[in-house]
Amino acid sequence: MANIKSISELLNDYQNGYSLEQGFYKNPDIYKREIKNIFHKNWILAGHTSQIPELGDIFLMDVANESLIITRTKKGEVKALINVCRHRGSHVCLERKGNAKAFTCPYHAWSYDLEGKLIAARYMQDDFDKTENGLHQAHVELAGNLIFISLAKEPLSLSEMQNDLKDVFEQFGFNNMKLAQQKTYPIKANWKLAVENYQECYHCAPSHKDFAKIHAMALNPAIFAKKKQDFLKKSKSHIRTSPSSFYFDLANEGQEGFQYDRNPLINDMRSGSAGGKPVAPLLGHMPEYENAASEFMVGPVTFFLIYDDHMLGYRFLPTSLDECVCDLFWFVRDDAVEGKDYDLETLTWLWHVTILDDEKIILNNKKGVDSDFYGPGKFSTMESMEQHFLTWYLSAIK
Ligand code: FES
Ligand SMILES: [Fe+2]
Repeated sequence: MANIKSISELLNDYQNGYSLEQGFYKNPDIYKREIKNIFHKNWILAGHTSQIPELGDIFLMDVANESLIITRTKKGEVKALINVCRHRGSHVCLERKGNAKAFTCPYHAWSYDLEGKLIAARYMQDDFDKTENGLHQAHVELAGNLIFISLAKEPLSLSEMQNDLKDVFEQFGFNNMKLAQQKTYPIKANWKLAVENYQECYHCAPSHKDFAKIHAMALNPAIFAKKKQDFLKKSKSHIRTSPSSFYFDLANEGQEGFQYDRNPLINDMRSGSAGGKPVAPLLGHMPEYENAASEFMVGPVTFFLIYDDHMLGYRFLPTSLDECVCDLFWFVRDDAVEGKDYDLETLTWLWHVTILDDEKIILNNKKGVDSDFYGPGKFSTMESMEQHFLTWYLSAIK
């Protein structure tokens, strides 16, 4: 880059209705600011309680440079311990998942219990206070058995989301789901290109031929609007159809942003799968397929798409200025049996091919954004959510 603009110059020069200029994706100061103001502040999906059913079960989660131990304590609570030894900073837990009685640091063998309390520190001075040297912790909140974490000192409140979506959690039986599969897809591009791509379906028809056969939102906007109107008119849905829009810049002061909506699938498509065929037992108390799917998001990088028989979670996290990962989570009813009630390959096929499509278009996008000839381009009407994301993002990094 010939000319590296400062953060304030980039912010001042942004023009509403246009994509971001190159500096937002290339400036290391911007990246540092994003980590501090977004990834160490907003709520992020860590996983689901079905991943740690037994006392002492753990799994690791990485948020940029940070490593967190998500653990089920002896009291049965879920905690998120910061995986940094209070002695000289080594990672304490190296196993990605498993079951632990305690965490013993591999460096000098200080030991911490499942709550993060320091329980043993070899040959330390008599006046060394173990109670002052427990592992640091992130905030944890469960929402329908989904585990969310926040690294903020004082986190945003999730209370409005919890109250508003109570009926949705109940209708889809969120407390009776289990994680069937999680897959990590590394993407060699700045995290914002991945999240921005997720915010719009302008690209769905040209870039996702499989997705576009199932989801009405990939259609021409006027046809989609008519289909949605018809769906709302005739639908005696067992699932809430009224939307909630507290998305990004629309979030109330002090509250984490969230959004909910329910949209029709195309014609007789019943699920997000090859040919729209059912792929698992119906969720919650649903008596039948409704040829629709619900979506909700919590915080800036966690998104869900709920079909009538399974739920997909999407999470984007940066790993460096130029790289990010997308984690996909597939959830089914907790009593569904793999091999009998669902087949993992059939269940995961649509979104596996869809994220691979997305990876391709994000990488092509990155190559162009890196060019000296790139400049901000005008958004279409189908990219209004991307504008909400950018409006929020610009205020978040101020
Ligand atoms: S760094 Fe963990 S015991 Fe020394
Ligand atoms: Fe996409």
